[in-house]
Amino acid sequence: MTAQDLKTGVFISFEGIDGSGKSTQSKRLAAQLRTKGYDVVETREPGGSPGAEEIRALVLQGDPDRWSAETEILLFTAARRDHMERLITPALQAGKIVICDRFADSTRMYQGLSRGDLRSVVDTLHELMIGREPDLTILIDMDPATGLQRALARQTADERFEAFGEELQSKMRAGFLALAQEYPERFCTIDGAQSPDKVAADIENAVAEALR
Ligand code: ADP
Ligand code: TYD
Repeated sequence: MTAQDLKTGVFISFEGIDGSGKSTQSKRLAAQLRTKGYDVVETREPGGSPGAEEIRALVLQGDPDRWSAETEILLFTAARRDHMERLITPALQAGKIVICDRFADSTRMYQGLSRGDLRSVVDTLHELMIGREPDLTILIDMDPATGLQRALARQTADERFEAFGEELQSKMRAGFLALAQEYPERFCTIDGAQSPDKVAADIENAVAEALR
């Protein structure tokens, strides 16, 4: 398929624990696809539209116990709905490739699994308010201790989830691997412990396959 043949848009998400290399690799993939002539929109969650970026500050900053898991599900879904309406859906309708650093699978994991089993609440609200999954989800799998070390070394203000520590990251890693088995048709799991070049090459191959 050539860049010009893309009529319906392609939605690619990156998932994985904190520090697994999602933002590094989503930028690299966007640059690589642009050199091939594709029209690419790079975005991230929580955030991606002005309203959703405001919600991002509410959920990622402050005390770890600032919100209950249920309130977080509502906030992340509200941010996602705005992001879909204003950025993702129009870009896909215009035939673009949308690369999103985290999407609903992060809510299924972080809010659905971290404090009790709220997965069905996440899925029900997703069905009602979002109603779409990515065409391809790249899961960068990573050892939680290394991921957390990398994430904390960055020193940003958005540390609320990093403050939950390695135990949460271990649970999230296992959860993401189980999710990849639940949705094998859209998930592709990549070994994040490799060099950035090797991770990028594996992702390039997976995306080329999906675009074919
Ligand atoms: P995420 O978006 O998943 O939290 P980042 O892409 O921000 O992860 O990467 C976290 C840190 O780890 C960054 O400082 C980045 O430069 C570094 N990093 C990313 N990929 C690799 C890799 N394959 N090997 C070593 N360090 C990496
Ligand atoms: P992100 O900025 O991607 O952090 P990182 O680069 O460290 O992976 O996401 C920030 C945090 O938000 C991350 O710890 C996971 C959390 N998160 C949720 O809890 N639920 C969600 O739906 C999303 C999108 C993110």
